[in-house]
Amino acid sequence: MTQPKIDVLVPDSDRMWADIMELSSIVDDRSPGWSREVFSEPYKASRDWTLQRMRDAGLEASIDAAGNIVGRLAGKNPNAPAIMTGSHTDTVHSGGRFDGIVGVMGAIEAARMLQESGTRLTSDLIVVDFLGEEANPFGVSCIGSRAIAGVLDPTHLERQDADGVSMAAAMAKFGLDPAAAVAMAWKPSDVKSYIELHVEQGPMLENAGTEIGVVTSIAGIERLMAVFTGRADHAGTTPMDQRADALIAAAEAILTVERVGCGAPIHGVTTTGKIATGQGAFNVVPDSSTIWAEIRSIDPSWLSGARRRIADQIAEDAAKRGVEVAIDLLNDQDPVPASQSMQDTVARAADSLGLSWAAVPSGAGHDAAHMAHLGSMGMIFIPSRGGRSHCPDEWTDKEHLGSGVQVLTSTLINLDQA
Ligand code: GLV
Ligand code: MN
Ligand code: MN
Ligand code: MN
Repeated sequence: MTQPKIDVLVPDSDRMWADIMELSSIVDDRSPGWSREVFSEPYKASRDWTLQRMRDAGLEASIDAAGNIVGRLAGKNPNAPAIMTGSHTDTVHSGGRFDGIVGVMGAIEAARMLQESGTRLTSDLIVVDFLGEEANPFGVSCIGSRAIAGVLDPTHLERQDADGVSMAAAMAKFGLDPAAAVAMAWKPSDVKSYIELHVEQGPMLENAGTEIGVVTSIAGIERLMAVFTGRADHAGTTPMDQRADALIAAAEAILTVERVGCGAPIHGVTTTGKIATGQGAFNVVPDSSTIWAEIRSIDPSWLSGARRRIADQIAEDAAKRGVEVAIDLLNDQDPVPASQSMQDTVARAADSLGLSWAAVPSGAGHDAAHMAHLGSMGMIFIPSRGGRSHCPDEWTDKEHLGSGVQVLTSTLINLDQA
């Protein structure tokens, strides 16, 4: 069979847009925006919808023990390692309609385009919708891709949410097999390369008027939880210099987290995403407070230095206030560079389609970071309006979506021929 020229493969952007909008109707409508959080009822319902979409697109699809939806389009050589693409369809609470979702719906559209144009790859094409990419109450993001990559371990299963429920119990309740998920581990020989289409979730592409981002590296993430314990006292009678105010110590810590991020070089960001206090009242000096913060960078040295500086400064400042602090440091993910060959393949695809591109780092975490354990990894970014993401205003134009899927499909074909 003669292969069509890759630039004649044009996605049906309306069809893909309709998929994205239809999926966005399967959400928890009690919250603003779009909430389809891992282990929730709407997420469960959406898994059946996505499975069916893959089957309708001609993929042989099923759900594995870790809850990943895996669809396969058979290639000409059953012994060749597969080419894999996909992303996630869970959202943060009150998130948007595009983060992760374009990578799954775009992959399904690419599979349809290949079949409709009569293009049969040599390798199998695997389309995957990984379970639970977003951060969750158990503190384990990218559950499904970790399982496939063989880096979901038993300690992840033991992690508990605020109610003391373990992640293993939550997985079992969702109909999954946690022990089998931990044991899963695909072999590097199963996958030749993994490529993920994703919205940028930041402003760089839009600001530069660039259509495609060739991802150079995925930021590493360090997380910390600091629990401050002070002393409750009468707010009217206790002199200012005789207090052990846990909430003020937490406030000072939040500013320390910000200050270290503001001093970052090329790419480094710090965020305190959550704070909690004890009972709290107008007239009581707070005796307890907890903050949850994270540090991200594509530079591993800066990342570990920032983590140490933040922890040391928080401890020093709290001690001056007579407040005790226990800091729990959690390395979530090291920075992961995209393979140079993948970056070149994506850039070449963009060039051949006449699309502008720029090399960009990813500040967001992605399933791709785990898939790099199995084979060469790359990512394609498309612009996010106003750089907004993880909020209901998240938006990507249909035309950018079409360009992204076209680059994805060209890349798949080129990877197959490489
Ligand atoms: C997930 O989207 C993350 O980057 O935190
Ligand atoms: Mn995402
Ligand atoms: Mn996200
Ligand atoms: Mn993410």
